[in-house]
Amino acid sequence: MELHGVSAVVTGGASGLGEATARALAERGAKVAVLDIQADQAQAVASEIGGVAGACDVTDAASAEAALEAAKAAHGPVGVAVNCAGVAPAKKIVGRDGPMPLEDFRRVIEINLIGSFNVMRLAAAQMVEREPNEDGERGVIISTASVAAYEGQIGQAAYAASKGGIVGLTLPAARELASSGVRVLSIAPGLFGTPMMLGMPRTVQDSLAATLPFPQRFGKPAEYADLVLFMIGNPLMNGETVRIDNALRMAPR
Ligand SMILES: NC(=O)c1ccc[n+]([C@@H]2O[C@H](COP(=O)([O-])OP(=O)(O)OC[C@H]3O[C@@H](n4cnc5c(N)ncnc54)[C@H](O)[C@@H]3O)[C@@H](O)[C@H]2O)c1
Repeated sequence: MELHGVSAVVTGGASGLGEATARALAERGAKVAVLDIQADQAQAVASEIGGVAGACDVTDAASAEAALEAAKAAHGPVGVAVNCAGVAPAKKIVGRDGPMPLEDFRRVIEINLIGSFNVMRLAAAQMVEREPNEDGERGVIISTASVAAYEGQIGQAAYAASKGGIVGLTLPAARELASSGVRVLSIAPGLFGTPMMLGMPRTVQDSLAATLPFPQRFGKPAEYADLVLFMIGNPLMNGETVRIDNALRMAPR
């Protein structure tokens, strides 16, 4: 899909992978709505890239609906939606204080999985209003999974389950939306240098980086954004989760 002039929304666009994606889409001429629960940071990114910002809690139906409607009012029906909003808290199923509070598990699923579905359903409903291109294509939806979907570590039960949900959602969504000319993909990143990761002590960062076969460094957010651009640009990419992980296979701990 040609990006120039296309209305795009990026959740989690205020930071990390989402911010890099918002910048890359804008550089290619897309009209970007930066959606995030951190409204001020979203506004700062939007101002720099000539986009619009939306305060949006992806877990909330009304909040996401309002944000997607505002994006449409500003830029037209959405043609590209990228889900980067997410959290990665670590907690054991049975820890020192007893069983994990059910609410902790539910919260991670709500943000990472249900939040991504929430934006997917609203974006897809707008995409079907768009004029198809010569390939019959109307839109592309990309969500962010994780290598934890396949090799979740101890303490990642909730996170890995949420990301496994994204992987499982991708093919049935692509199959259903195929008749509307909408492609659905997801990306499973390994270790990327985002605020989520760079907030850790240097020693932890170094020991994590040492687990990466090659190259032995964290991914740059712009390298994630490159894959987003490739997926949007190549019409045959559909229904798949693609790992971008330096050949990392995570150990149990
Ligand atoms: N950084 C990595 O190494 C890595 C690896 C694998 C997967 N991921 C996934 O990539 C995505 C982006 O992560 P990141 O590293 O850029 O993290 P980040 O913390 O830099 O960015 C995440 C953004 O999501 C926003 N957000 C959180 N909850 C939200 C909500 N309810 N509604 C709207 N926005 C919300 C945050 O405000 C933040 O701006 C996440 O889904 C994460 O799980 C990251």
